[in-house]
Amino acid sequence: MPPRVTVVGTGHLGASHAACVAELGFEVLGVDNDETLIGGLSHAEPTFYEPGLGQLLRRGLDSGRLSFTTSYQRAADFGDVHFICVGTPPCTGSYRADLSYLNACIDSLAPLLRRRCLVVGKSTVPVGTAAQCAQRLAQLAPAGQDAELAWNPEFLREGCAVPDTLHPDRIVAGVASARAEAMLREIYARPLADGTPFLVTDFATAELVKVAANAFLATKISFINAMAEVCDAAQADVTVLAAALGHDARIGSAGLRPGLGFGGGCLPKDIRAFMARASDLGAGQSLAFLREVDAINGRCRSRTVDLARELVGGSFGGHRVGVLGAAFKPGSDDIRDSPALDVATAVQRLGAQVTLYDPEAMDNARRNCPDLKYADSMMEAARDADVVLLLTEWQEFRDADPEIMAKVVAQRAVVDGRNALDPARWRAAGWRYRALGRN
Ligand code: UDX
Repeated sequence: MPPRVTVVGTGHLGASHAACVAELGFEVLGVDNDETLIGGLSHAEPTFYEPGLGQLLRRGLDSGRLSFTTSYQRAADFGDVHFICVGTPPCTGSYRADLSYLNACIDSLAPLLRRRCLVVGKSTVPVGTAAQCAQRLAQLAPAGQDAELAWNPEFLREGCAVPDTLHPDRIVAGVASARAEAMLREIYARPLADGTPFLVTDFATAELVKVAANAFLATKISFINAMAEVCDAAQADVTVLAAALGHDARIGSAGLRPGLGFGGGCLPKDIRAFMARASDLGAGQSLAFLREVDAINGRCRSRTVDLARELVGGSFGGHRVGVLGAAFKPGSDDIRDSPALDVATAVQRLGAQVTLYDPEAMDNARRNCPDLKYADSMMEAARDADVVLLLTEWQEFRDADPEIMAKVVAQRAVVDGRNALDPARWRAAGWRYRALGRN
């Protein structure tokens, strides 16, 4: 009998993981306390935008392999492998990760575990958390030694959650026994047969791989954005610089797109939590550079506001600003720590009247920033604007025709916050064009 799988915590990570593991051929039960979430997923309707996930959920549900519940008891009775995918948001007033959802999850599940099983943490956690979870599991689970812990970090990107989960670029297995390793190899047999590297390690290394990867990605983005600052000072072009650097195979072009910088529910909070944890371990100095990575990223936002202000003559008062984009990146409706919304609200606070459009993130943006004005289309957001800001590089915005948009705006002025437009084409259509690192 193939192992039966539960996925506890069915947010973005958990829902994607549950649907993908069902797609890999296993019987999967998704578990969450949130009835709305479970209700939506049971009808193949996730409450968030993720390309391809709805179809995959539908296939899983129709095949009978995938189902959802709010009952931990059902999960405990059902599962041979329990994946824990709950969120670890930042604590209020501190950089540390809030582990209350994770701890509550272990405390709810463990006392119900009466048979042999593997509990697999996937959440992003401070190093040392897995060891504590293992202890807690050993104390609480009636199954005793038969209920074991493993740590298997998740590297999926929002917007690519389905392909990233079905075809991961590596699988990291933090395990304490050969049995745990064998169980994970069985679950991931298909990607392993495709040649996906499988790295077996201890808990601490597995936890660190995830935060170190995010720290590296954030550093790479802030590196190119620091180069953009130098390019501005030296009147050079950061987009050409980035392309030239990217051709060096040791550097690579991925994650080297200059612009408004990183946001979302992972990179900003994860580098801060990593700094806090390193500091607690007495290794704060080793990650001191991440403070600068974070500061450079913050400056991308304020410098974008400055470019827009310059284009409206030095002050936003009485000016209309058309904003294209609210999501932290295209392919997502996630607005957590979104650079685009941050800039939009800053510009509005400084006296402008902002009208915003995003193809997917309108509901989330409206809920979070009710004071902004919202338009039903890109052209409506640009109508009568004194300056247009492209802040999330959706394809629709990349494809915008500067001649057509010129007809609806008050002034032909554009800030390309993501280096997504062709400056020559926009200038030829009479636009004043500005972008970080290209002035
Ligand atoms: C990230 C990691 O990539 C993923 O491995 C981890 O599991 C979770 O965090 P995600 O937050 O979905 O994933 O987005 P990612 O595609 O990495 O982009 C993060 C942010 O960086 C976005 O705001 C994006 O716009 C920005 N970015 C990315 C850049 O500014 N420049 C780049 O070159 C790449």
